[in-house]
Amino acid sequence: MYNITKITDDISYIGLNDRRIELFENAYPVKNGVSYNSYMIDDEKTVLLDTVDWSAARGFMENVLHVLSGRPLDYVIVDHMEPDHAATLGLILEKFPEAKVYGTLKVADLIKQFHGLDIRDRFTAVKEGDTLNTGRHTLHFTMAPMVHWPEVMMTYDETDKVLFSADAFGRFGALSGNIFEDEAGLWKADLDDARRYYTNIVGKYGANVQNVLKKAAALDISMICPLHGPVLREDLGYYIDLYLKWSSYTPEDKTVLIAYGSVYGGTENAAEILASKLAALGVKNIRVADVSKTHVSDLVSEAFRVSNIVIASPTHDGNMLLGVEVLLSELKYRSLQNRAFAVIENGTWAPLSGKLIKEELAGFKNCTVLEPTVTVKSAPDEAALASLDELAAAIAGSLQ
Ligand code: FEO
Repeated sequence: MYNITKITDDISYIGLNDRRIELFENAYPVKNGVSYNSYMIDDEKTVLLDTVDWSAARGFMENVLHVLSGRPLDYVIVDHMEPDHAATLGLILEKFPEAKVYGTLKVADLIKQFHGLDIRDRFTAVKEGDTLNTGRHTLHFTMAPMVHWPEVMMTYDETDKVLFSADAFGRFGALSGNIFEDEAGLWKADLDDARRYYTNIVGKYGANVQNVLKKAAALDISMICPLHGPVLREDLGYYIDLYLKWSSYTPEDKTVLIAYGSVYGGTENAAEILASKLAALGVKNIRVADVSKTHVSDLVSEAFRVSNIVIASPTHDGNMLLGVEVLLSELKYRSLQNRAFAVIENGTWAPLSGKLIKEELAGFKNCTVLEPTVTVKSAPDEAALASLDELAAAIAGSLQ
């Protein structure tokens, strides 16, 4: 049965939830599920903005048919071709062969690649500033390449001042009837998970996000309709400020993440001691995380939150511990910048992990490594404690 929510007089939310999914993109745990958002405008012409994941196909088709109530579907606007939004696009295009399709130039190719459909005879490739009038509404198209794929664009409805923002301003978590964030309270209840979505999905593309934010600043926006998570219509500055911070790789908090790997507890002990020393020096909101127990997407999110990151690892078969290696690789891949790192190494006979970690960190843009590098031999001793004291002082000093 259909399940839709009107968000303005003639714009409907027709998205659906997936609470069974374990891993979004088969990579990121989503303990609270995810929503696949889609919208329809019921104007003189009917408009569908994006579709949903295959898992929600049945309910989605019921929603589309209900909004249409026997009318033809005139326009399909494709803001993003990733299959969580376009898997059911093929079904729609086959069911409504008269519907005209609007998207960026690459969209027709991607429809061919994903769905085997040649839609060139009914496709309009739009570019920055192009518009589409549907009766009461005038839609403006603004390019948003690499937020999060190259074909992405956003659609701005000048009539109701709604920005259909594609993946931007989305978040993990299924919706529970409350479509609007001011009723759902998801962002402020769990900002960490919203940041985890941003940093892992579009964190790498900060410069592209900045470009889009500049264009958005010129628009009069009363509502942001993303492709995941709640619709935003209050306190929009809060979300835009977060996006400005995250996309410029500016820390939210002057504090410390201590991410450690540990095999027999010596490195863990050093990490915990450092945390206590930092707390004693007045540092607040410190997070200590075991890389072998914490999903790397959470660590990436934390790394974007904090100004300082301590990487602690034993030497394991002449390398750093696997989880530490994965974390560094993910942080580099997400283009994390503007951070002060510090290193704790452990080695029972030949400590090497510190050197290897610092070699990795040398490739991070605008990042420093605070001294000293703490060396633990199996378990912290008095010399290691003194070194941890020195490092705590250096970190606390850098936070001033
Ligand atoms: Fe939600 Fe880039 O797809």
